[in-house]
Amino acid sequence: MSSPFNRIGVVGAGAMGRGIVQLFAQAGIPVVVHDTQPGAVERAIASLADTLGKLAERGKLSADVARATLERISDAPTLAGFADCDLVIEAIVERLDVKQALFRALEAELAADAVIVTNTSSLSVTAIAAACSRPERIGGYHFFNPVPLMRVVEVVGGPRTRPDVLERLVALARVAGHEPVVCQDTPGFIVNHAGRAFGPESLKALGEGVAGHADIDRILREQVRIDGQGFRLGPFELLDLTGLDVSHPVMESIYHQYYEEPRYKPSVIGAQRVAAGLLGRKTGEGFYRYEGGQPVADPAHAEAPAPAAPQGLRAWIAPGPDQAAVRSLVEGLGASIDTSAQPAPGSLIILTPLGIDATEAARGFDATRAIALDTLMPFGLQACKRRVIMTTPATQASWRDAAHGLFAADGTKVSVLRDSAGFIAQRVVSMIVSIACDIAQQRVASPADIDTAVRIGLGYPAGPLTMGDRLGPARILAILEGMHRITADPRYRPSPWLRRRAQLGISLLVAD
Ligand code: NAI
Repeated sequence: MSSPFNRIGVVGAGAMGRGIVQLFAQAGIPVVVHDTQPGAVERAIASLADTLGKLAERGKLSADVARATLERISDAPTLAGFADCDLVIEAIVERLDVKQALFRALEAELAADAVIVTNTSSLSVTAIAAACSRPERIGGYHFFNPVPLMRVVEVVGGPRTRPDVLERLVALARVAGHEPVVCQDTPGFIVNHAGRAFGPESLKALGEGVAGHADIDRILREQVRIDGQGFRLGPFELLDLTGLDVSHPVMESIYHQYYEEPRYKPSVIGAQRVAAGLLGRKTGEGFYRYEGGQPVADPAHAEAPAPAAPQGLRAWIAPGPDQAAVRSLVEGLGASIDTSAQPAPGSLIILTPLGIDATEAARGFDATRAIALDTLMPFGLQACKRRVIMTTPATQASWRDAAHGLFAADGTKVSVLRDSAGFIAQRVVSMIVSIACDIAQQRVASPADIDTAVRIGLGYPAGPLTMGDRLGPARILAILEGMHRITADPRYRPSPWLRRRAQLGISLLVAD
């Protein structure tokens, strides 16, 4: 595969610029680098020499390739050094006025058909292009940090970008071994838009007092299983890693850029914690505390041991699609089954709601002995790491503890939530699917590209549309409809993309 560009200029030799330079120089393309800060390019080249040397030492590439890669990189003291470049990639400070001034200055140096792209993560590519005399050759090339390891790039086109410019950028990404995903210039592109569920919905559940942040992290890491995989980090661990001073403004910016779309509404918890300086690892304290960059175990966040398995417990299981599976679990855990049409006095009442809360599911039953079990994820006997149950405000502590002890009787961990429309996993996963469906509905990108971008860019166990397919579009729709009905919050209204495909019984990856 030959490169569609012969010589690439990179402006900005910071974290992203360095990675971009490495990627293309390693792919065999000459790269010229410019930075306004004195010594920045020298430092970047020295650090790349170090990186390439280490890769060669570890046998990841040959010493010859490392040397040839370095030889392809050169310093451009001024923008005039880009005159021979047919592509310039901008990775400077995230400010619209500074980027616009740079793009205008670049146009004065480059050939009329040279392509100029921005690595912006939050600004409008269209607004940057508006400052240019030839906006048709301007696009976005949004890489992720660290560039050589995060093998996906969003190729962003504005309303005036010529299609062949995007096609050449796609081909270049493939030459460098990256997965290109093409998307329309919209707030957050694909990945930062699709990421509006995991953190924000978890913060919302935290704000409602459904569970503590450490419980929510444990649930999303250990209960969620899609194709056998879960989320590698919980949402609060991730917020601490990124830093709330970075994440919270992104949440606010996307919410406002979409004209206060309720699906993206951030949490007041984020704003308060930013104000308090509880930013995460970088300040030594966020949702967790850190010493020397490592989390410090905090007894306040530790998991309480499960009560002993109850003796002689009899359980009544509410009818529903999972009734038989719950019954065999409960029997396997040593309880007897109450098979009467209505729960007999003295039976634990087990409900399996989708989208609605335990209180709603307990209507018509004795709520004092009712608990709800989340059946969205695997929950069978020794078939999962964690089960999640939820109480109504009327559930007596003795029945809650009996259910906790029962569901932990095979050694599986159990989380106990306060009542919530949609448990934690149902809420977070269905919002991930819902927002991805809306991205597809808005034609921001193809369904396949949405899945690829999110799987690689956010490291989710699967792309969000595939996640929806695995769990069943009809079940995801039922969860969102339930949450929408109980909360009356328009945040949960199902995307038409999801509703139509669930009704038709087809994959969420089917485009029309
Ligand atoms: P950085 O602060 O590490 O590096 C920026 C570099 O640009 C600095 O070396 C600075 O001296 C130079 N610079 C600033 N103004 C300049 C100008 N007018 N002309 C030439 N050089 C100039 O920033 P970082 O993290 O590399 O980000 C760069 C861009 O990439 C931003 O637009 C950012 O939003 C975007 N981005 C950042 C990601 C990240 O994780 N850091 C991920 C994806 C995109």
